[in-house]
Amino acid sequence: MIRQCLAASLLVLSSTSLMAAECSIDIQSTDQMRFSTDNIVVDKSCKQFTVNLQHTGTMPSNVMGHNWVLTTAADMQGAMMEGMSAGVANNYVKVDDARVIAHTKVIGGGEKDSVTFDTSKLKEGESYAFFCSFPGHSALMKGTLAFK
Ligand code: CO
Repeated sequence: MIRQCLAASLLVLSSTSLMAAECSIDIQSTDQMRFSTDNIVVDKSCKQFTVNLQHTGTMPSNVMGHNWVLTTAADMQGAMMEGMSAGVANNYVKVDDARVIAHTKVIGGGEKDSVTFDTSKLKEGESYAFFCSFPGHSALMKGTLAFK
């Protein structure tokens, strides 16, 4: 009862915050080398954005590892190629790569990892790309991200 009253009060007092944008997304990745989404929109009202990456498969990270890496669309190829050279010890991301806006670590089946980044790093109108930088995966594991 108390909880219902509180909920009702909140509904009246802060209807705007109840309609606030979701500032996080849950993404599943699989043994079939896929992300569960290929398009992410980050709402401009979000100060930070969180990606919760989950590997719903069973294959280990050295065979079917997945991460989530964000760059501009233009930077994706270069960051991916140099990330490959950086190796698994660096989660297939070049150390201190300024092109990489955010990234999770590489995970295997049954694992999860999250990354939170400031949306001040994003520009409205820019085309962003997210991908898995595990060697060979970005052909299938990629998508677009927009800030608007
Ligand atoms: Co992958």
